[in-house]
Amino acid sequence: MSGYQTIYQRYKQQILNGQLKPGDKVASIRVLAADLGVAKKTVETAYSILIGEGYLVSQGAHGTRVNPDLKLQRRPPPDNIAVADHELQQLIDIRDNAGHFRLGIPSLDAFPYKKWLLLAAKAVRAMRPEHMLIPPVMGHQPLRQAIANYVNISRGLNCSPHQVCITSGYKQSLALILQTLAAPQDKVVYEDPGYFFGHKLLQRIAKNLHYAPVDRDGINVDYLLKHHQDARFVIITPAHHSPLAVTLSLPRRQQLLNWAQTRQAWIIEDDYDGEFHYSKKVLPALKSQDPGDRVIYVGTFSKTIMPAMRTSYIVLPKKLVNRFHETAEIVATGLPLLPQQILSRFIAEGHFFKHLKKMRSLYQARRQMVLNALHQVYPQRFYVELSDGGMHLVAFLKSGSQDQQLAELWQQHQLLVSPLSLWYAGKTKRYGLVIGYTNITSEQEAITAFKRPYQQTVALLNG
Ligand SMILES: Cc1ncc(COP(=O)(O)O)c(C=O)c1O
Repeated sequence: MSGYQTIYQRYKQQILNGQLKPGDKVASIRVLAADLGVAKKTVETAYSILIGEGYLVSQGAHGTRVNPDLKLQRRPPPDNIAVADHELQQLIDIRDNAGHFRLGIPSLDAFPYKKWLLLAAKAVRAMRPEHMLIPPVMGHQPLRQAIANYVNISRGLNCSPHQVCITSGYKQSLALILQTLAAPQDKVVYEDPGYFFGHKLLQRIAKNLHYAPVDRDGINVDYLLKHHQDARFVIITPAHHSPLAVTLSLPRRQQLLNWAQTRQAWIIEDDYDGEFHYSKKVLPALKSQDPGDRVIYVGTFSKTIMPAMRTSYIVLPKKLVNRFHETAEIVATGLPLLPQQILSRFIAEGHFFKHLKKMRSLYQARRQMVLNALHQVYPQRFYVELSDGGMHLVAFLKSGSQDQQLAELWQQHQLLVSPLSLWYAGKTKRYGLVIGYTNITSEQEAITAFKRPYQQTVALLNG
């Protein structure tokens, strides 16, 4: 293909597949020719064909644009966009589609947008040439400081900013920890049931993966000690188990910490929503009860600020900081600076604490709305064991085990609940629906939503 044809084809393709949209400005002839290292005439020829065919319009001194009047048929996404693993695809759909009861998303209507915007503008105005370099791989120093202050006060830790490593999400935290510390055959124990996406990651990266069951008091430590005394890593969600939302009891915490200390094993504490507790008797983070420094604490801003931040953190035992730094320099890329600057101002200026306080009472109220609505629309079908906090509840089926069919049915009505049985690794399962309540703004909204699949739900549950 000659030069102008290549340029012509590339533009046409970009326009047809929607990457370039009607009205979008395209590069000037002079700039594109310089960029591609071709003669201006080559680009001019390609553009004049595209203009002739109606894909582009020339607007004289205002440049060239994709024809704003172009009407393109929307193409369906290519088939291979879905992942082959059906269960994974189902969870991705629940996560990414718009609908009711989505899991783990903070209340989008209650975020202090104006405040955020002001801080973002301040951060942009304070930008200097040195801010355009690669940010430190362990994180922006003021953010590490703000996080250390926050977890020390709010979650009872006792760490310095030096121990905080900023990551781009829980999965990166987990991968970084195992990449730094784990030998290939080290035994890793995960909760059963357990956080779906964490489980998927471990299936890929942990060769020697085992499970311990979870009951009303959290992970069953007796089982763990009986079957996996030799584990090197135990990964748990002690504040509110994911997905059962139960809290790890005090005696089990002690038992687990003693075991880790004796065996020199590591406990990875995933404190993903520990901020949201609704009773006065709050257990601090497990890390705060860890004199032997065997707990690696993992936190996230996905629940407290927004998942789009992609900002989470690890609080490292002091003796691991240098090893982590080295791994991070090799495998991690660091996070963009600007969002870290905005976030550190948000925390340091006190807005974060205020926001959390507001969210706590809002979530408690919204949980009650959803609970009332569920019992009103489906009396006798589900039971709920309310926990101390969190951002979701589990509605267990009173009878039957059709939670997967039920969830798929509800998903067709944009109720984005997840079947509990999907979160289990072993054969012993409980059945129910995992329901997020944080974005439900009234009881009536929840009632209307629950009623959408009513007839088919009753038919399904009646067998
Ligand atoms: C159990 C659990 N851990 C961690 C996370 C945080 O993940 P991330 O920081 O990647 O958003 C979530 C988010 O849904 C979660 O449910």
